[in-house]
Amino acid sequence: MEFTSIKGFKDILPGEAGKWQRLEKAARRVFASFGFQEIKTPLLEWTELFSRSIGQDTDIVSKEMYTLKDSKGRGMTLRPEATASVVRAYIQQRLYQQNPIQKLFSIGPMFRHERPQKGRFRQFHQINAECLGDPGPISDAELMIMAMVLLEYAGLNNLALNINSLGCAGCRPGFRGALKGYLSERRDALCADCRRRSESNPLRVFDCKVEGCKEVVSRAPSITVFLCKPCQEHFACVQDYLADARIPFVLNDHLVRGLDYYTRTTFEIQTDQLGAQNAVAGGGRYDGLVKLLGGPEHPAVGFAVGIERVMALLEIEDDVEPKGPDLFMAALGEGAEKRCFNWALSLRREDFWVEMDYGSRGLKAQMKKADRLGAKKVLIVGDDELARGKGLLRDMATRVQEEMDLDSLLEVLRERLSHG
Ligand code: HAM
Repeated sequence: MEFTSIKGFKDILPGEAGKWQRLEKAARRVFASFGFQEIKTPLLEWTELFSRSIGQDTDIVSKEMYTLKDSKGRGMTLRPEATASVVRAYIQQRLYQQNPIQKLFSIGPMFRHERPQKGRFRQFHQINAECLGDPGPISDAELMIMAMVLLEYAGLNNLALNINSLGCAGCRPGFRGALKGYLSERRDALCADCRRRSESNPLRVFDCKVEGCKEVVSRAPSITVFLCKPCQEHFACVQDYLADARIPFVLNDHLVRGLDYYTRTTFEIQTDQLGAQNAVAGGGRYDGLVKLLGGPEHPAVGFAVGIERVMALLEIEDDVEPKGPDLFMAALGEGAEKRCFNWALSLRREDFWVEMDYGSRGLKAQMKKADRLGAKKVLIVGDDELARGKGLLRDMATRVQEEMDLDSLLEVLRERLSHG
C-alpha cells in the first residue's frame, strides 16, 4: 500500500513554511501592539460545546464536524473553529476575575469536513483574536482595524472589508419573522434543507450554495430597517471609527455569517482573487455566547484569518528571497571535524544557522554543497590547519578569503556573522 495524505489534509513543505512563520510572526507583533496575549486551547473538545455555540442548523454542526466517541460513549469533536474553545476557557478558568477585559489570540489548525476545493481544506489554519468583556463599538472597530493592519503588514492590499449588523435579542426577532414570511411565500423555490431551515432558523438560508436559494435570498428583506435604536447607534459608531481611521468598508446587509452566535456587528474581509472562497477573514460581535455557555453575561467580539487563503494570495505576488545558512563548516580530517562540530554547536546556541557535512568528503564536494545551500560564509579547517591553529573564512558573495586565528575563532565569527 502506498500511503498518501487524507483528502483535504495537506503537507506544509519546508519551502512554504518560511512564509507561514513570517505571517505568524507578523500576527504576534501586530497583536502585541494592540495588547493581545496568546492562549492555547485543546484541539479536541466535547461536541456539545460546538453544537451549542455555533448552532445545530449551521453547516458546520449539521454536516462538517469530525466527531468521535470516548470510552463512555460521549461525543468529542476536533475543533472546527476557535471561538467556542476560547470562551470555554474564559469561563472555566475565570479569566475575567484577573482582568475585566481579556484580549486573547491563538494560532492553529481547525477541522471541517467540507468539500475540498481551491482555498478550502478539511484541516486548515486560523489566526484567531477575541476581545472579551467590552460591549462598546470601539472594540468592534479596533478588531476590524487590527485584522486589516495585520493583512496589510503581511503584504496584502486590495482587500474589501464588508460589514453588517445582525441586531440584538430585542430587534432580531422582527427581522427573523419578516424573513420567515418572505421565505414561506417562496417555499417551492427552496432546496429541501432550506425549506426546513426557513422554519427553524431562517437566517441560515443565507448560507446556502444552491443557485435557486441564492436567488431567493438576494431579494430578501434587509435587516438594516429592523435594527433598534441602540443597535443603530452602535453600528453608526463602528462606521465612524472606521472612517476616522481611513479604513474603507462596504455595507453589506446580506452578510449574516455561517455561525449562530453573532449579534450586532459582523464583518468579512474579502478578495476577488480566490474564486468562490473569497473570505480571507471573518468575525463579529457575540454578546450572548459567554452566558449561553454558562458564564457571566459578558459581551465579546472577535475574528479569524484563514492562513491558507493568505498564503494563496501571497503566492500570487511572491517576492521573498530564499534564505541560506549563515555559515557552512568545511572540515577536512577527523580532528578538524570534531572541533568544527563543537564550534557549530556553540554558534547554533546563539541562534546562528550553521551547516556542516558529516560525510568526510573532499573540499570540492563540500564547497559545492555550501554553494547549493546558499551559505553566506564557509569556514575551511583541515587537520594541518588545526595543528597550525589557523583556518580560512571565505565570503561566498565576494569570494574573499581571510586567515582566521582558531584561538579566537568564536569571537571573530560572532562578529562577522552578525554583520552579514
Ligand atoms: P469563519 O468565517 O468560519 O469564522 O472562518 C474564518 C476564516 O477561516 C474564513 O474567513 C476563511 O479564511 C478561513 N476558513 C474557514 N473555513 C475554511 C476551510 N475549510 N479551508 C480554509 N480556510 C477556511 C470563524 O471561524 C469564527 N470563529 C471567527 C470569529 C472569531 N468570530 C468571532 N471570533
